Amino acid sequence: MPVHYVTYKGIKFPPAYNSEHSLSFAHNEFLVRDDDVFNVTYPKSGTVWMTEILSLIRSRGHPSWSQTILNSDRMPWFSTRLGLEAALSYPSPRLLTCHLPRHIFPKSFSHSTAKVIYTLRDPRDVVVSYYYFSKMSNPIKPWQDLTHAPAAFCLPSVPHGSWFEHVQGWMEMKDQENFFFITYEELKQDLQGSVRRICQFLGQDLDDAAVSSVVRNASFSAMRENPMCSSVLLPADIMDQTKGQFLRKGICGDWRNHFTVTQSETFDRIYQDRMQGLNMAFPWDRH
Ligand code: A3P
Repeated sequence: MPVHYVTYKGIKFPPAYNSEHSLSFAHNEFLVRDDDVFNVTYPKSGTVWMTEILSLIRSRGHPSWSQTILNSDRMPWFSTRLGLEAALSYPSPRLLTCHLPRHIFPKSFSHSTAKVIYTLRDPRDVVVSYYYFSKMSNPIKPWQDLTHAPAAFCLPSVPHGSWFEHVQGWMEMKDQENFFFITYEELKQDLQGSVRRICQFLGQDLDDAAVSSVVRNASFSAMRENPMCSSVLLPADIMDQTKGQFLRKGICGDWRNHFTVTQSETFDRIYQDRMQGLNMAFPWDRH
């Protein structure tokens, strides 16, 4: 069945949890508080992982909050219909999540000292993760098969908008002190060091035992065991658990198992062309 996406400012959003009103409210009316912390990502870049890391930092490494409260209640998706309500009634300091591109992020953010943590991932792994996710996620159907996925991913019509524009828009903030960015690949390579850097950015002074507990409880295996973040509690019409696992592989470079040589070369050409203005090197640029 074709998905009828919600369109806001020319970008398609999955209909199950977004509405034009919720997106417009988030953009134009949502009041950012100075002590808000935002987890911002392009889909399939490690959103739920960062939610777990930030929740565990907030609870100083104690896992009980993360193990008893759904991740979407710990860090509401404030630009969605249900998440907006949760965000508005959330006592400060809030932890909030979204996939919004910079140009439709709340306008009130510009005048605040709220913090944004932006996580990005090798776009080729985003394509693969997105493809498998779309098989189990009923509200998202970007591609029927992997043959066309890498090329289709580069089109602006992809749900949530272009990855290239998302990254470029957010990276314009890279020198601002209330903005922190990290890659999925860095989290994989050194989660302990990454957690310490995030704590420093947030001004959270966690001791070694607390940091180790964050790392332990935000590991792929611990998260798979935790129904509060593994997505198994989501209704079947949103996420069909018989068609895959949300916490699928959790590795870097899975694109190598899926892209053909031609797809890889074509993608590289588009990537070089679209990213040339950014002048930044990411871990995947070396591979
Ligand atoms: P894969 O499909 O490649 O396994 P998002 O939360 O933005 O939708 O991203 C989901 C991706 O992040 C999935 O990638 C998922 O497995 C991965 N992920 C989530 N938690 C992780 C963790 N603790 N360690 C490694 N990868 C994780």
